Amino acid sequence: MKTDDELIAAAWDAREMAYAPYSKFHVGAALLASDGRIFPGCNVENISYGLTNCAERVAIGAAIAAGARSFEKVVVVADTAQPISPCGACRQVLAEFGVKSVILANRTQKVTFSLEELLPRASTGILDRP
Ligand code: THU
Repeated sequence: MKTDDELIAAAWDAREMAYAPYSKFHVGAALLASDGRIFPGCNVENISYGLTNCAERVAIGAAIAAGARSFEKVVVVADTAQPISPCGACRQVLAEFGVKSVILANRTQKVTFSLEELLPRASTGILDRP
């Protein structure tokens, strides 16, 4: 089983790959699948700013493309005074794939939330249909 520290290290490594020439704000993510695989993500910006993909959604896309469908947690890191927090779009995408726990870290701090805390009642009655 992967430890949170391993996941956090993977997220910092992923952050090194960030393509963020416009904001210059580099974000890394590491997504833990239920089968133990770790999928890294970094933000990928675009000259058409609205096409930017956040690190979290890049990690989800890589994982889905590799055949993972079940997830435990995601780590998101940035070099900020306080740990950053996922945007609303990413919260919804994390909910789509049942990511249970979200760990947010900077160089010195780590805070953990359930996805339910960050996005209460995400698609209740739709995503959890029988
Ligand atoms: N960003 C992420 O990748 N994840 C977050 O949780 C917050 C924001 C990116 C998007 C954009 O490339 C840059 O950070 C500034 O918002």
